[in-house]
Amino acid sequence: MKPIVLSGIRPTGQLHLGNYLGALQKFVKMQQEGIYENFFFIADLHALTTNPDPKALHENVKNVLAEYIAAGLDPEKSTLFIQSDVHEIPELYLLLNMHVGIGELMRTAAFKDKARKQLGITSPATDDDEDMAREIIGGNSNKRVNAGLLTYPTLMAVDILIQKADFVPVGKDQEQHLELTRRFARRFNSFYNVDFFKEPQNFNFGGEPVKVPGLDGSGKMGKSEGNCLYLIDEDKPLRKKVMRAVTDAGPTEPNQPMAEPVKNLFAILKLVATPDKVQFFTDAYNRCEIRYGDLKKELAEDILAITAPIRERYKEIRNDEAYLRRVVEMGAEKARAHARKTVEDVRQIMGILPF
Ligand code: ADP
Ligand code: TRP
Repeated sequence: MKPIVLSGIRPTGQLHLGNYLGALQKFVKMQQEGIYENFFFIADLHALTTNPDPKALHENVKNVLAEYIAAGLDPEKSTLFIQSDVHEIPELYLLLNMHVGIGELMRTAAFKDKARKQLGITSPATDDDEDMAREIIGGNSNKRVNAGLLTYPTLMAVDILIQKADFVPVGKDQEQHLELTRRFARRFNSFYNVDFFKEPQNFNFGGEPVKVPGLDGSGKMGKSEGNCLYLIDEDKPLRKKVMRAVTDAGPTEPNQPMAEPVKNLFAILKLVATPDKVQFFTDAYNRCEIRYGDLKKELAEDILAITAPIRERYKEIRNDEAYLRRVVEMGAEKARAHARKTVEDVRQIMGILPF
């Protein structure tokens, strides 16, 4: 039996360089290893937690599927599926929720961020989150945080546990959700005195989880940050975005520490360029001879060397809807076979038995 790998991305827009270097590139590498049984899916039920426009959601499911394939995922080698095609997932989500505490869900970092946004709270999070709890529970507020957002980690745990995954390649920001998944698995096993669910691990090929920064000098590249280099960006607009990246006036003393925006440029360069190019620009910086324009030109070309071929394949694949449909039909069947078995067993374990 091969170890099982599973991961997913929410269809909330086109994929950007952060999604690719943090997640999708790892999926492709794991597929290439040939030693795993791979499941990669599109988390459309998770996307519903932020109430997207229905038409945009459906388009984005197709876009991300085409981007998966364009980046190198092969439907013959990996099971590619849409989360909502596996009806056993909502069933297990209901069953598992019986063992999940609202308190632990409310303490999840991703929930706190999104709930504060939905409630329009702008002050920084506090330890007890009293302001947030008051808004959520207090009857005077007409604002609402939907229950789907609260139970997001249960749904994610179900995606993973239903396929009995061993490895879940994700970026650093998803590690807390993985930790909860392990906790839910342990709790279920111990409550029913069974050795049923496996505890999944992140996977980084021995390195640190990747975090791709934004080019605007800010923290991370992300859809909601509006600072993305998209995989499907054409050459010219992508070059323009890179050339506009924030820098500083340049070093004035040898070996001067780098300002945050400059550090970010180097961080991306390290992920896309050869080590000798990184060395070249680092030396130039340390000697105060760096020309940021040259660095940006190099960076844009190295990014395009990765993204342009994906973009061109994407255009062809995205236009072939009949092919995309065949891929998801095939994927749904395989994903459901595993899921059905798990849910049948869980029903038995929990005492939902046939007459
Ligand atoms: P976004 O933050 O743009 O909405 P998602 O939350 O849908 O992206 O993330 C999908 C996958 O991409 C996750 O595995 C996440 O860890 C990874 N990811 C997203 N942004 C980055 C980034 N800037 N650096 C590294 N990985 C990222
Ligand atoms: N929460 C993940 C994200 O925002 C997406 C996701 C949903 C996922 N279910 C999953 C990732 C299961 C890995 C495994 O990126």
